[in-house]
Amino acid sequence: MKSTTRDNFSSKFGVIAAAAGSAVGLGNIWKFPYEAGQNGGGAFLVLYFFFIITIGLPIMISEFVIGRKTNANAVRAFKKITPDKPWYLTGIMGVAASFMILSFYGVVAGWTLEYVYLAITNAFKGQDPAALSEGFNNFISDPVRPLVWQVLFMVLTAIVVIGGIKNGIEKLTKILMPVLLLIIIVMGVRSVTLGANINAAGEVVGHSFDGLKFLFKPDFSKVDIDVVLDALGQAFFSLSLGMGTIITYGSYIRKNNNLNKTAVEVAFLDTLIAVLAGVAIFPAVFYFNVAPTEGPGLVFTVLPGIFQKMIGGYIWTLAFFILLTVAALTSSISLLEVGVAYFAEELKINRVKATIVVTAIITVLGIACSLSNNILKDVKLFGRNIFDNMEFLSSNVMLPLGGMLIAIFAGWYINKTDLYNELSNGNVLKLRFFKMFYFIIRFIAPVAIAIVFLYSVGLLGE
Ligand code: TRP
Repeated sequence: MKSTTRDNFSSKFGVIAAAAGSAVGLGNIWKFPYEAGQNGGGAFLVLYFFFIITIGLPIMISEFVIGRKTNANAVRAFKKITPDKPWYLTGIMGVAASFMILSFYGVVAGWTLEYVYLAITNAFKGQDPAALSEGFNNFISDPVRPLVWQVLFMVLTAIVVIGGIKNGIEKLTKILMPVLLLIIIVMGVRSVTLGANINAAGEVVGHSFDGLKFLFKPDFSKVDIDVVLDALGQAFFSLSLGMGTIITYGSYIRKNNNLNKTAVEVAFLDTLIAVLAGVAIFPAVFYFNVAPTEGPGLVFTVLPGIFQKMIGGYIWTLAFFILLTVAALTSSISLLEVGVAYFAEELKINRVKATIVVTAIITVLGIACSLSNNILKDVKLFGRNIFDNMEFLSSNVMLPLGGMLIAIFAGWYINKTDLYNELSNGNVLKLRFFKMFYFIIRFIAPVAIAIVFLYSVGLLGE
Protein backbone atom coordinates (compact mmCIF):
# COMPACT_ATOMS: atom_id res chain seq x y z
CA MET A 1 0.00 0.00 0.00
CA LYS A 2 1.38 3.41 -0.99
CA SER A 3 1.93 5.95 1.72
CA THR A 4 -0.35 8.45 0.05
CA THR A 5 -3.34 6.19 0.42
CA ARG A 6 -2.97 5.91 4.18
CA ASP A 7 -4.39 8.34 6.67
CA ASN A 8 -2.10 10.62 8.64
CA PHE A 9 -2.37 12.45 11.90
CA SER A 10 -2.98 16.10 11.15
CA SER A 11 -0.94 17.76 13.84
CA LYS A 12 1.77 17.16 16.37
CA PHE A 13 -0.74 17.31 19.15
CA GLY A 14 -2.89 14.86 17.25
CA VAL A 15 -0.12 12.26 17.42
CA ILE A 16 0.36 12.64 21.14
CA ALA A 17 -3.35 12.72 21.75
CA ALA A 18 -3.91 9.52 19.81
CA ALA A 19 -0.95 7.64 21.26
CA ALA A 20 -1.74 8.85 24.75
CA GLY A 21 -5.38 8.04 24.10
CA SER A 22 -4.30 4.50 23.35
CA ALA A 23 -2.06 4.27 26.38
CA VAL A 24 -4.35 5.89 28.92
CA GLY A 25 -7.35 3.75 29.63
CA LEU A 26 -8.65 1.02 31.88
CA GLY A 27 -5.04 -0.07 32.27
CA ASN A 28 -4.34 3.03 34.33
CA ILE A 29 -7.54 3.37 36.27
CA TRP A 30 -8.80 -0.18 36.61
CA LYS A 31 -5.83 -2.54 36.14
CA PHE A 32 -3.00 -0.57 37.73
CA PRO A 33 -4.71 -0.05 41.11
CA TYR A 34 -5.88 -3.61 41.41
CA GLU A 35 -2.49 -5.03 40.38
CA ALA A 36 -0.72 -2.70 42.79
CA GLY A 37 -3.21 -3.69 45.49
CA GLN A 38 -2.61 -7.39 44.95
CA ASN A 39 1.15 -7.02 44.73
CA GLY A 40 1.88 -5.12 47.90
CA GLY A 41 1.69 -1.48 46.75
CA GLY A 42 4.92 0.51 46.97
CA ALA A 43 7.36 -2.16 45.84
CA PHE A 44 5.17 -2.91 42.83
CA LEU A 45 5.13 0.80 41.98
CA VAL A 46 8.94 0.97 42.08
CA LEU A 47 9.27 -2.06 39.81
CA TYR A 48 6.67 -0.66 37.47
CA PHE A 49 8.53 2.68 37.19
CA PHE A 50 11.75 0.81 36.63
CA PHE A 51 10.30 -1.23 33.77
CA ILE A 52 8.64 1.79 32.17
CA ILE A 53 11.88 3.72 32.00
CA THR A 54 14.41 1.01 31.20
CA ILE A 55 12.35 -1.25 28.98
CA GLY A 56 9.02 0.34 28.08
CA LEU A 57 10.33 3.61 26.75
CA PRO A 58 13.03 2.15 24.48
CA ILE A 59 10.56 -0.38 23.12
CA MET A 60 7.99 2.32 22.51
CA ILE A 61 10.56 4.27 20.51
CA SER A 62 11.43 1.09 18.58
CA GLU A 63 7.79 0.51 17.72
CA PHE A 64 7.34 4.09 16.53
CA VAL A 65 10.44 3.74 14.35
CA ILE A 66 9.39 0.43 12.83
CA GLY A 67 5.92 1.79 12.04
CA ARG A 68 6.95 5.10 10.58
CA LYS A 69 9.91 3.75 8.64
CA THR A 70 7.81 1.12 6.90
CA ASN A 71 4.55 3.02 6.83
CA ALA A 72 2.81 -0.31 7.18
CA ASN A 73 0.59 -2.34 9.48
CA ALA A 74 2.09 -4.43 12.25
CA VAL A 75 2.62 -7.51 10.07
CA ARG A 76 3.70 -5.87 6.82
CA ALA A 77 6.17 -3.69 8.71
CA PHE A 78 8.29 -6.75 9.53
CA LYS A 79 7.92 -8.17 6.02
CA LYS A 80 9.15 -4.95 4.48
CA ILE A 81 12.39 -4.90 6.46
CA THR A 82 13.12 -8.65 6.47
CA PRO A 83 11.16 -10.09 3.50
CA ASP A 84 12.73 -13.52 3.67
CA LYS A 85 12.74 -14.12 7.40
CA PRO A 86 9.84 -15.13 9.62
CA TRP A 87 9.84 -11.89 11.63
CA TYR A 88 6.34 -11.07 10.45
CA LEU A 89 5.20 -13.76 12.90
CA THR A 90 5.86 -11.21 15.65
CA GLY A 91 3.21 -9.08 13.97
CA ILE A 92 0.83 -12.03 13.74
CA MET A 93 1.30 -12.75 17.43
CA GLY A 94 0.53 -9.08 18.02
CA VAL A 95 -2.70 -9.33 16.10
CA ALA A 96 -3.62 -12.39 18.16
CA ALA A 97 -2.77 -10.54 21.38
CA SER A 98 -4.92 -7.60 20.31
CA PHE A 99 -7.88 -9.93 19.90
CA MET A 100 -7.32 -11.43 23.34
CA ILE A 101 -6.82 -8.11 25.09
CA LEU A 102 -9.81 -6.46 23.51
CA SER A 103 -11.97 -9.44 24.41
CA PHE A 104 -11.64 -8.87 28.16
CA TYR A 105 -11.14 -5.14 27.76
CA GLY A 106 -14.57 -4.89 26.17
CA VAL A 107 -16.05 -6.70 29.16
CA VAL A 108 -14.55 -4.26 31.67
CA ALA A 109 -15.50 -1.31 29.48
CA GLY A 110 -19.03 -2.75 29.55
CA TRP A 111 -18.88 -2.58 33.36
CA THR A 112 -18.05 1.12 33.10
CA LEU A 113 -21.12 1.61 30.91
CA GLU A 114 -23.24 -0.06 33.58
CA TYR A 115 -21.69 2.35 36.08
CA VAL A 116 -22.58 5.31 33.86
CA TYR A 117 -26.13 4.03 33.94
CA LEU A 118 -26.04 3.55 37.73
CA ALA A 119 -24.61 7.05 38.09
CA ILE A 120 -27.43 8.52 36.02
CA THR A 121 -30.03 6.80 38.16
CA ASN A 122 -28.20 7.83 41.35
CA ALA A 123 -28.06 4.19 42.40
CA PHE A 124 -24.98 4.57 44.61
CA LYS A 125 -26.62 7.03 46.93
CA GLY A 126 -26.32 6.04 50.58
CA GLN A 127 -24.50 2.77 49.85
CA ASP A 128 -21.57 1.82 52.06
CA PRO A 129 -18.56 -0.07 50.65
CA ALA A 130 -20.05 -3.42 51.64
CA ALA A 131 -23.20 -2.64 49.68
CA LEU A 132 -21.18 -1.31 46.75
CA SER A 133 -19.09 -4.46 46.69
CA GLU A 134 -22.16 -6.64 46.83
CA GLY A 135 -23.76 -4.60 44.06
CA PHE A 136 -20.72 -5.11 41.86
CA ASN A 137 -20.62 -8.84 42.51
CA ASN A 138 -24.30 -9.23 41.82
CA PHE A 139 -23.90 -7.37 38.59
CA ILE A 140 -21.06 -9.48 37.21
CA SER A 141 -22.74 -12.68 38.39
CA ASP A 142 -25.68 -11.88 36.13
CA PRO A 143 -25.04 -13.70 32.84
CA VAL A 144 -26.99 -11.31 30.63
CA ARG A 145 -26.65 -7.74 31.82
CA PRO A 146 -22.85 -7.38 31.43
CA LEU A 147 -23.12 -8.90 27.96
CA VAL A 148 -25.52 -6.24 26.79
CA TRP A 149 -23.11 -3.48 27.81
CA GLN A 150 -20.11 -5.30 26.40
CA VAL A 151 -21.73 -5.72 23.00
CA LEU A 152 -22.80 -2.07 23.03
CA PHE A 153 -19.25 -1.00 23.81
CA MET A 154 -17.83 -3.14 21.00
CA VAL A 155 -20.30 -1.62 18.57
CA LEU A 156 -19.24 1.86 19.68
CA THR A 157 -15.59 0.91 19.15
CA ALA A 158 -16.33 -0.37 15.66
CA ILE A 159 -18.22 2.81 14.76
CA VAL A 160 -15.28 5.01 15.74
CA VAL A 161 -12.82 2.82 13.84
CA ILE A 162 -14.96 2.96 10.71
CA GLY A 163 -14.95 6.75 11.07
CA GLY A 164 -11.20 6.74 10.30
CA ILE A 165 -8.09 7.89 12.07
CA LYS A 166 -8.37 11.65 11.86
CA ASN A 167 -12.03 12.06 12.51
CA GLY A 168 -12.49 9.34 15.01
CA ILE A 169 -9.50 9.19 17.23
CA GLU A 170 -8.01 12.63 17.38
CA LYS A 171 -11.07 14.69 18.11
CA LEU A 172 -12.34 12.60 20.96
CA THR A 173 -9.03 12.39 22.75
CA LYS A 174 -8.04 16.03 22.45
CA ILE A 175 -11.05 17.34 24.27
CA LEU A 176 -11.73 14.75 26.88
CA MET A 177 -8.37 13.63 28.22
CA PRO A 178 -7.55 16.88 29.99
CA VAL A 179 -10.95 16.80 31.67
CA LEU A 180 -10.35 13.25 32.88
CA LEU A 181 -6.99 14.28 34.29
CA LEU A 182 -8.64 17.12 36.18
CA ILE A 183 -11.32 14.91 37.70
CA ILE A 184 -8.75 12.36 38.85
CA ILE A 185 -6.77 15.12 40.56
CA VAL A 186 -9.88 16.37 42.36
CA MET A 187 -10.70 12.81 43.42
CA GLY A 188 -7.15 12.37 44.68
CA VAL A 189 -7.42 15.47 46.83
CA ARG A 190 -10.71 14.31 48.28
CA SER A 191 -9.43 10.81 48.89
CA VAL A 192 -6.24 11.90 50.65
CA THR A 193 -8.10 14.40 52.86
CA LEU A 194 -10.64 11.83 54.06
CA GLY A 195 -8.53 11.44 57.19
CA ALA A 196 -9.61 9.08 59.95
CA ASN A 197 -12.75 7.01 59.63
CA ILE A 198 -14.41 6.87 63.05
CA ASN A 199 -17.35 4.57 63.59
CA ALA A 200 -20.36 5.06 65.86
CA ALA A 201 -18.52 3.55 68.81
CA GLY A 202 -15.74 6.09 68.42
CA GLU A 203 -13.17 3.62 67.10
CA VAL A 204 -10.87 4.42 64.20
CA VAL A 205 -11.65 1.87 61.49
CA GLY A 206 -9.35 3.27 58.83
CA HIS A 207 -7.17 6.18 57.85
CA SER A 208 -6.60 7.62 54.39
CA PHE A 209 -2.90 8.26 55.06
CA ASP A 210 -2.34 4.53 55.33
CA GLY A 211 -3.28 4.38 51.67
CA LEU A 212 -0.48 6.78 50.76
CA LYS A 213 1.94 4.72 52.80
CA PHE A 214 0.77 1.58 51.08
CA LEU A 215 1.32 3.10 47.64
CA PHE A 216 4.55 4.99 48.22
CA LYS A 217 6.41 3.13 50.91
CA PRO A 218 7.97 0.10 49.26
CA ASP A 219 8.14 -3.09 51.23
CA PHE A 220 10.48 -5.28 49.21
CA SER A 221 9.95 -8.26 51.44
CA LYS A 222 6.67 -8.75 49.54
CA VAL A 223 8.40 -9.02 46.19
CA ASP A 224 8.63 -12.38 44.51
CA ILE A 225 8.93 -13.33 40.86
CA ASP A 226 5.17 -13.12 40.31
CA VAL A 227 5.18 -9.51 41.48
CA VAL A 228 8.04 -8.75 39.09
CA LEU A 229 6.24 -10.40 36.19
CA ASP A 230 3.02 -8.52 36.99
CA ALA A 231 4.91 -5.22 37.06
CA LEU A 232 6.57 -6.00 33.74
CA GLY A 233 3.25 -7.03 32.18
CA GLN A 234 1.55 -3.95 33.55
CA ALA A 235 4.25 -1.68 32.07
CA PHE A 236 3.64 -3.20 28.64
CA PHE A 237 -0.11 -3.19 28.97
CA SER A 238 -0.36 0.37 30.16
CA LEU A 239 1.92 1.76 27.46
CA SER A 240 0.12 -0.30 24.77
CA LEU A 241 3.38 -2.01 23.87
CA GLY A 242 4.50 -5.35 22.56
CA MET A 243 1.87 -6.10 19.95
CA GLY A 244 1.99 -3.52 17.23
CA THR A 245 -0.43 -0.82 18.38
CA ILE A 246 2.39 1.69 18.45
CA ILE A 247 3.80 0.28 15.19
CA THR A 248 0.43 0.83 13.58
CA TYR A 249 0.10 4.34 15.00
CA GLY A 250 3.71 5.08 14.09
CA SER A 251 2.83 4.33 10.49
CA TYR A 252 0.37 7.22 10.57
CA ILE A 253 2.91 9.70 11.97
CA ARG A 254 4.49 12.31 9.74
CA LYS A 255 8.18 12.28 8.94
CA ASN A 256 8.95 15.50 10.79
CA ASN A 257 7.55 14.41 14.14
CA ASN A 258 10.10 13.95 16.91
CA LEU A 259 9.47 10.31 17.83
CA ASN A 260 11.67 10.32 20.92
CA LYS A 261 9.91 13.28 22.38
CA THR A 262 6.51 11.87 21.56
CA ALA A 263 7.40 8.60 23.28
CA VAL A 264 8.69 10.36 26.40
CA GLU A 265 5.59 12.53 26.61
CA VAL A 266 3.21 9.64 26.17
CA ALA A 267 5.02 7.47 28.72
CA PHE A 268 5.12 10.34 31.20
CA LEU A 269 1.44 11.17 30.86
CA ASP A 270 0.45 7.52 31.08
CA THR A 271 2.49 6.91 34.22
CA LEU A 272 1.25 10.13 35.79
CA ILE A 273 -2.35 9.10 35.31
CA ALA A 274 -1.75 5.64 36.77
CA VAL A 275 -0.09 7.14 39.84
CA LEU A 276 -2.85 9.70 40.25
CA ALA A 277 -5.42 6.94 39.98
CA GLY A 278 -3.51 5.18 42.78
CA VAL A 279 -3.58 8.35 44.85
CA ALA A 280 -7.33 8.60 44.33
CA ILE A 281 -8.01 4.99 45.18
CA PHE A 282 -5.69 3.75 47.94
CA PRO A 283 -6.38 6.40 50.57
CA ALA A 284 -10.09 5.64 50.12
CA VAL A 285 -9.41 1.89 50.22
CA PHE A 286 -7.78 2.30 53.62
CA TYR A 287 -10.31 4.83 54.86
CA PHE A 288 -13.20 2.49 54.05
CA ASN A 289 -11.21 -0.48 55.27
CA VAL A 290 -11.63 -2.41 52.02
CA ALA A 291 -9.06 -5.11 51.19
CA PRO A 292 -6.54 -3.73 48.66
CA THR A 293 -6.21 -7.25 47.33
CA GLU A 294 -9.82 -7.35 46.20
CA GLY A 295 -8.85 -7.72 42.53
CA PRO A 296 -10.64 -6.59 39.36
CA GLY A 297 -13.65 -5.24 41.27
CA LEU A 298 -11.55 -2.88 43.40
CA VAL A 299 -12.15 0.43 41.65
CA PHE A 300 -15.81 -0.29 41.04
CA THR A 301 -16.30 -0.83 44.74
CA VAL A 302 -14.21 2.03 46.04
CA LEU A 303 -14.67 4.95 43.66
CA PRO A 304 -18.42 5.45 44.09
CA GLY A 305 -17.68 5.60 47.82
CA ILE A 306 -15.33 8.56 47.35
CA PHE A 307 -17.88 10.45 45.32
CA GLN A 308 -20.44 10.10 48.09
CA LYS A 309 -18.11 12.15 50.25
CA MET A 310 -17.94 14.98 47.75
CA ILE A 311 -20.09 18.04 47.29
CA GLY A 312 -21.87 17.58 43.98
CA GLY A 313 -21.16 13.86 44.17
CA TYR A 314 -23.84 13.04 41.63
CA ILE A 315 -22.18 15.09 38.91
CA TRP A 316 -18.65 13.92 39.75
CA THR A 317 -19.69 10.29 39.63
CA LEU A 318 -21.44 10.70 36.33
CA ALA A 319 -18.65 12.73 34.75
CA PHE A 320 -16.04 10.27 35.96
CA PHE A 321 -17.67 7.15 34.59
CA ILE A 322 -18.48 8.81 31.27
CA LEU A 323 -14.87 9.90 30.90
CA LEU A 324 -13.57 6.50 31.97
CA THR A 325 -15.69 4.98 29.22
CA VAL A 326 -14.25 7.45 26.73
CA ALA A 327 -10.71 6.67 27.89
CA ALA A 328 -11.51 2.99 27.43
CA LEU A 329 -12.85 3.77 23.97
CA THR A 330 -9.74 5.61 22.80
CA SER A 331 -7.75 2.54 23.91
CA SER A 332 -10.10 -0.04 22.47
CA ILE A 333 -10.06 1.64 19.05
CA SER A 334 -6.28 1.35 19.05
CA LEU A 335 -6.60 -2.35 19.82
CA LEU A 336 -9.20 -2.90 17.13
CA GLU A 337 -7.20 -0.87 14.62
CA VAL A 338 -4.34 -3.41 14.73
CA GLY A 339 -6.58 -6.22 13.53
CA VAL A 340 -8.49 -4.04 11.10
CA ALA A 341 -5.36 -2.64 9.42
CA TYR A 342 -4.06 -6.18 9.09
CA PHE A 343 -7.27 -7.70 7.70
CA ALA A 344 -7.94 -4.78 5.38
CA GLU A 345 -4.44 -4.43 3.97
CA GLU A 346 -3.15 -8.00 3.99
CA LEU A 347 -6.30 -9.95 3.32
CA LYS A 348 -7.57 -7.17 1.01
CA ILE A 349 -10.98 -6.84 2.57
CA ASN A 350 -12.49 -3.37 2.56
CA ARG A 351 -12.10 -1.50 5.81
CA VAL A 352 -15.72 -1.49 6.82
CA LYS A 353 -16.07 -5.22 6.27
CA ALA A 354 -12.77 -5.87 8.03
CA THR A 355 -13.97 -3.86 11.01
CA ILE A 356 -17.21 -5.79 11.22
CA VAL A 357 -15.51 -9.20 10.95
CA VAL A 358 -12.80 -8.42 13.50
CA THR A 359 -15.27 -6.86 15.93
CA ALA A 360 -17.53 -9.89 15.67
CA ILE A 361 -14.72 -12.34 16.42
CA ILE A 362 -13.49 -10.33 19.39
CA THR A 363 -16.98 -9.87 20.77
CA VAL A 364 -17.55 -13.62 20.75
CA LEU A 365 -14.28 -14.19 22.63
CA GLY A 366 -15.37 -11.44 25.01
CA ILE A 367 -18.67 -13.15 25.69
CA ALA A 368 -16.73 -16.18 26.94
CA CYS A 369 -14.72 -13.86 29.22
CA SER A 370 -17.83 -12.25 30.57
CA LEU A 371 -19.57 -15.55 31.20
CA SER A 372 -16.56 -16.79 33.13
CA ASN A 373 -17.76 -14.54 35.97
CA ASN A 374 -20.99 -16.48 36.18
CA ILE A 375 -22.15 -19.56 34.27
CA LEU A 376 -18.67 -20.54 33.05
CA LYS A 377 -17.12 -19.86 36.44
CA ASP A 378 -15.84 -23.39 36.82
CA VAL A 379 -14.23 -23.65 33.43
CA LYS A 380 -10.60 -23.37 34.43
CA LEU A 381 -7.19 -23.81 32.92
CA PHE A 382 -3.99 -23.48 34.99
CA GLY A 383 -6.27 -22.64 37.92
CA ARG A 384 -7.60 -19.52 36.21
CA ASN A 385 -10.96 -18.86 34.62
CA ILE A 386 -11.29 -17.73 31.00
CA PHE A 387 -11.20 -14.03 31.79
CA ASP A 388 -8.10 -14.33 33.98
CA ASN A 389 -6.36 -16.51 31.41
CA MET A 390 -6.97 -14.02 28.62
CA GLU A 391 -5.58 -11.29 30.81
CA PHE A 392 -2.61 -13.26 32.08
CA LEU A 393 -1.59 -14.78 28.75
CA SER A 394 -1.89 -11.55 26.82
CA SER A 395 -0.39 -9.04 29.20
CA ASN A 396 2.08 -11.15 31.12
CA VAL A 397 3.22 -13.49 28.38
CA MET A 398 2.51 -12.26 24.85
CA LEU A 399 3.22 -8.56 25.37
CA PRO A 400 6.62 -9.00 27.04
CA LEU A 401 7.52 -11.67 24.50
CA GLY A 402 6.40 -9.41 21.66
CA GLY A 403 8.35 -6.54 23.19
CA MET A 404 11.45 -8.68 23.43
CA LEU A 405 11.17 -9.65 19.77
CA ILE A 406 10.55 -6.04 18.75
CA ALA A 407 13.64 -4.90 20.65
CA ILE A 408 15.76 -7.63 19.06
CA PHE A 409 14.34 -6.78 15.65
CA ALA A 410 15.04 -3.06 15.96
CA GLY A 411 18.44 -3.66 17.53
CA TRP A 412 19.78 -6.41 15.29
CA TYR A 413 17.77 -6.47 12.08
CA ILE A 414 17.37 -2.81 11.22
CA ASN A 415 20.60 -1.37 9.94
CA LYS A 416 22.10 0.98 12.54
CA THR A 417 22.36 3.92 10.16
CA ASP A 418 18.77 3.48 9.03
CA LEU A 419 17.64 3.37 12.62
CA TYR A 420 19.58 6.51 13.42
CA ASN A 421 18.24 8.30 10.36
CA GLU A 422 14.65 7.46 11.09
CA LEU A 423 14.95 8.48 14.73
CA SER A 424 16.75 11.73 13.95
CA ASN A 425 14.42 12.57 11.05
CA GLY A 426 17.27 12.34 8.57
CA ASN A 427 19.91 13.80 10.87
CA VAL A 428 17.86 16.88 11.68
CA LEU A 429 17.45 16.10 15.37
CA LYS A 430 20.33 15.66 17.75
CA LEU A 431 20.11 12.31 19.50
CA ARG A 432 21.92 12.52 22.78
CA PHE A 433 20.81 9.15 24.07
CA PHE A 434 21.18 7.06 20.95
CA LYS A 435 24.07 4.97 22.24
CA MET A 436 22.25 4.10 25.41
CA PHE A 437 19.03 3.42 23.56
CA TYR A 438 20.85 1.15 21.11
CA PHE A 439 22.54 -0.77 23.89
CA ILE A 440 19.25 -1.26 25.72
CA ILE A 441 17.33 -2.61 22.76
CA ARG A 442 20.17 -4.89 21.68
CA PHE A 443 21.08 -6.32 25.06
CA ILE A 444 19.40 -5.08 28.20
CA ALA A 445 15.73 -5.31 27.26
CA PRO A 446 15.84 -8.78 25.64
CA VAL A 447 17.98 -10.25 28.40
CA ALA A 448 15.96 -8.69 31.21
CA ILE A 449 12.68 -9.94 29.79
CA ALA A 450 14.16 -13.40 29.21
CA ILE A 451 15.34 -13.57 32.81
CA VAL A 452 11.94 -12.59 34.19
CA PHE A 453 10.32 -15.26 32.02
CA LEU A 454 12.74 -17.99 32.95
CA TYR A 455 12.35 -17.23 36.62
CA SER A 456 8.61 -17.13 36.47
CA VAL A 457 8.33 -20.53 34.86
CA GLY A 458 10.79 -21.85 37.40
CA LEU A 459 13.72 -22.49 35.07
CA LEU A 460 16.09 -20.15 36.89
CA GLY A 461 15.98 -20.99 40.55
CA GLU A 462 13.08 -20.17 42.82
N1 TRP B 1 -2.91 0.73 27.24
C1 TRP B 1 -4.33 0.64 27.26
C2 TRP B 1 -4.79 0.88 28.68
O1 TRP B 1 -3.99 1.14 29.53
C3 TRP B 1 -4.85 -0.65 26.70
C4 TRP B 1 -4.26 -0.93 25.36
C5 TRP B 1 -4.53 -0.29 24.20
C6 TRP B 1 -3.27 -1.87 25.07
N2 TRP B 1 -3.76 -0.77 23.21
C7 TRP B 1 -2.97 -1.74 23.71
C8 TRP B 1 -2.59 -2.77 25.83
C9 TRP B 1 -1.99 -2.53 23.14
C10 TRP B 1 -1.62 -3.57 25.25
C11 TRP B 1 -1.30 -3.43 23.93
O2 TRP B 1 -5.94 0.80 28.97
